[in-house]
Amino acid sequence: MSKVGIFFGTDTGNTRRVAKDIANQLGDIAAKPINIRNASVADLLAYDTLILGTPTYGEGVLPGLSAGTATASWEEFLPSLSGQDFSGKKVAIYGLGNQKSYPNEFIDAVFYLYEAFSRCGATLIGDWAVEGYQFKASKAVIDARFVGLALDQENQKELTPTRVEAWLASLALGAS
Ligand SMILES: Cc1cc2nc3c(=O)[nH]c(=O)nc-3n(C[C@H](O)[C@H](O)[C@H](O)COP(=O)(O)O)c2cc1C
Repeated sequence: MSKVGIFFGTDTGNTRRVAKDIANQLGDIAAKPINIRNASVADLLAYDTLILGTPTYGEGVLPGLSAGTATASWEEFLPSLSGQDFSGKKVAIYGLGNQKSYPNEFIDAVFYLYEAFSRCGATLIGDWAVEGYQFKASKAVIDARFVGLALDQENQKELTPTRVEAWLASLALGAS
């Protein structure tokens, strides 16, 4: 069984910290988390299962230079996916956001990753219930569920460990 690849974007480090927690919880099956600004499409294609993390910046956009993050990030990476084939690959996405300050764009960036990897033929896994959050709108909600795990370190930090644990269990990666 190949390892689970973990790639994240971040500006202030929250999404990196969650990536490390995910790797620790997965143990031996997890590869070392890598910042997406240091990764190529080939690096992602080396894995059959991927966990991808992103914060949302600006007003509902991907982290990256036009959103004001300090370095390149998912915004700069996603165009390189054009024409790539991720069929047979499982992709699970987690997103960090702030539901109080950005109630109309909560974790919107998760949707952009979902859309980009769906278009490349990946099998998206890891949807998540919207109960337990207070927000008005999110592009990441499809058919009344988030298309990935929603985390909020500003307002619900205490819930993050149990959410991550339950989400990883729902992915059943050890069984694949
Ligand atoms: C300038 C700025 C814009 C933000 N815009 C959004 C947003 O549109 N939607 C959202 O859910 N969170 C938004 N956030 C919250 C961040 O996504 C959140 O703080 C996240 O934990 C940051 O992750 P990082 O430390 O990995 O960069 C914004 C934060 C900042 C500072």
